[in-house]
Amino acid sequence: MFNLSSLFNTFFKKTPESVLGVDIGSSAIKVVQLRKKNGKAILETYGELSLGPYAGTEIGRATNLPQEKIVEALKDLIKEANVSTTVCGMSIPASASLISFIKMPTSDPRQLETAVPLEARKYIPVPITEVSLNWSVIPENVHEFTNEFEAHEEARKTDGPQSSEVLLAVIHNDVLSKYNQILRDANLQTNALEIEIFSSMRAIIEQSLDAELVFDMGAGSTKLYIIDRNVLHAAHTVNRGSQEITLALSRSLSMSVGDAEHIKRTVGISNEPEKRQVREVISLNLDYVFTETNRVILNYQKKTGKNVSRVILTGGGSLLKGFLELARAKFQIEVVLGDPFAKTETPAFLEPVLKAAGPGFAVAIGLALKQLQD
Ligand SMILES: Nc1ncnc2c1ncn2[C@@H]1O[C@H](COP(=O)(O)OP(=O)(O)OP(=O)(O)O)[C@@H](O)[C@H]1O
Ligand SMILES: [Mg+2]
Repeated sequence: MFNLSSLFNTFFKKTPESVLGVDIGSSAIKVVQLRKKNGKAILETYGELSLGPYAGTEIGRATNLPQEKIVEALKDLIKEANVSTTVCGMSIPASASLISFIKMPTSDPRQLETAVPLEARKYIPVPITEVSLNWSVIPENVHEFTNEFEAHEEARKTDGPQSSEVLLAVIHNDVLSKYNQILRDANLQTNALEIEIFSSMRAIIEQSLDAELVFDMGAGSTKLYIIDRNVLHAAHTVNRGSQEITLALSRSLSMSVGDAEHIKRTVGISNEPEKRQVREVISLNLDYVFTETNRVILNYQKKTGKNVSRVILTGGGSLLKGFLELARAKFQIEVVLGDPFAKTETPAFLEPVLKAAGPGFAVAIGLALKQLQD
């Protein structure tokens, strides 16, 4: 429904065989290569590379690398994962973009065409000439009606809605240049740069009439967004990620950050009596993010009168052992782990591995799927 591709770069003359999704996260780069065969997305290769070592810090930590280091890491990963295509989709981090929802006093498409960019200026902290702005109208009556037809009928009866809600997506031009330059330096080409939220939506959301919350816990932050009837309705970033757990473990257990990361990944949330301290540090640390998530869910319910029916967990942070069970206890609604590889054809023997690693690859898979669709 919404993409930024029209704003960028070249379009390809012929459909390439294999495509790559590239997710440059704060702690790791993830790539997924897919090919279309008989209408199906076949998984050709995938891989992940921690950025910590390129920044002189530990694995699992959020980094802020200069461009040339990112290029170096990306090239290493492309080689390591035997990537064989140069055609890719790449994500822009949520933290380097701005997503807002604004109310407009009209729903007339021509009026919106001029009014939205003017209104958007109020939300954008820099001159509008410095950004790329994309927007789309959120379908009206999405909450009250059970199907598209009913909504349409109601709109017709009332002579159309008098106001509309508009989704704004803004990326600074410097950010776009940076990512385009990374692609060029890594010998990749794209017609699709996309804010990561839209990529993972494509990879994990099924057609549904329900409202669902996607919980993406990365290293440095946790992205929370609500999708209602397949449309993005709210997006929040909590400035806490899985690296906070590592740092808290390192402090509480007086061990190095590297060792704490190891304990986090191998022990996780365990019910064994001798693992009690680890469990307590982790769950205390996660409380803040869970509370924020519940607040986002409640706010949405208050605003729309519609319940959020499911939480879908993604991001490397949700790979923590026992995370799903803890999340189920904290949220009063259904919680599942995202399974983005389910949208691809994979060798049977790999299925358990891919199901386990899947939540970390949602963004990369969504980007590759977009390339196949386009
Ligand atoms: N098996 C695991 N158990 C527990 N934690 C894990 C596991 N694997 C990865 N992590 C943690 O997940 C985090 C990385 O997640 P992810 O790869 O989604 O982050 P990112 O995309 O690089 O970061 P961001 O989205 O914040 O930019 C790290 O902090 C890492 O310690
Ligand atoms: Mg991420």
